[in-house]
Amino acid sequence: TTQSGPRHFLDLKDLDATTLRQILDVAAGMKQMQKGRRFPLHPRVPLAGRALGIILSKPSTRTRVSFEVGIRQLGGDAVILSPSDMQIGRGETITDTARVLSRFVDALVLRTGRTENLHELARAASVPVINGLTPSSHPVQILADILTYEEHRGPVKGRTFAWTGDGNNVLVSLIEGAVRFGFKLRAATPADMAPSQAVLDWARQEGGDVVLTTDPRAAVDGADCVVTDTWLSMSDSEEEAAMRLAKLSPYRVDAALMALAAPDALFMHCLPAHIGEEVTEDVFEGPQSVVFDEAENRLHAQKGLLAWTMGGENWLSFGKE
Ligand code: CP
Ligand code: NVA
Repeated sequence: TTQSGPRHFLDLKDLDATTLRQILDVAAGMKQMQKGRRFPLHPRVPLAGRALGIILSKPSTRTRVSFEVGIRQLGGDAVILSPSDMQIGRGETITDTARVLSRFVDALVLRTGRTENLHELARAASVPVINGLTPSSHPVQILADILTYEEHRGPVKGRTFAWTGDGNNVLVSLIEGAVRFGFKLRAATPADMAPSQAVLDWARQEGGDVVLTTDPRAAVDGADCVVTDTWLSMSDSEEEAAMRLAKLSPYRVDAALMALAAPDALFMHCLPAHIGEEVTEDVFEGPQSVVFDEAENRLHAQKGLLAWTMGGENWLSFGKE
């Protein structure tokens, strides 16, 4: 990669396609290596002595546990931090917090309700900062999704993904993933819930094949993978909930919509799911659904990412020992 300074992982668009592919290759190698192996899962513990600080200002199940377990499997330690228990809660700046934590830990994960906080942390930290979800994007989720698709169906390159539902943070990262990994994306959202023009312009500039529509049937038609997410994200106000659910109900993934996709299409959802809202139970529990493989792959994909951020010169060998 040409990036200088710490190996921040803020958005998929910040990394080149080669580095992203290498992260998934290392992830797949480490996953393969640990299957059937008892402790230690890895013959060497390549991140022994390293500490990962995980700052969560929003709830999390998958992100928290997958990063904590992932760093431990590689021989390191995790420190889970909540801003309300830190001096940040009493007004210490993010910049000073970044400078202090950089003296203690070797990388930081941040989940925040304010995208600017992530960038402020990254600017001031001298260690890598990883985006653990902001209202604007969720790049680690898409690493896991691509790993999952490829395990089931082979290379994503040239395939067609469909998104139907809210034009949220996960969709933005899926758009960036489509461009970097070379798959087509058709996204259906209500007109006033579409992703920002900026990310669409970026995708076009980069030569990506990303099409936006308001018609879920047009998006899903013939697709190789159908992806959706909750209709009410952590950053959305509860007051808008009823309005959002009403507007989004035509975008629900049910058996009839899924039947328009390719016969071997997969169904994906980053979880947590709201059955009966964005997806019906038959699809969620059905044979095309790979949602729990996706959840598991958060662990494996992020171990590849931790190798890149903290593994130094030898990170590419992590999946090969
Ligand atoms: N998909 C995901 O990021 O889940 P959590 O909110 O549980 O971390
Ligand atoms: N779009 C959801 C994803 C949760 C993992 C949210 O931001 O709440």
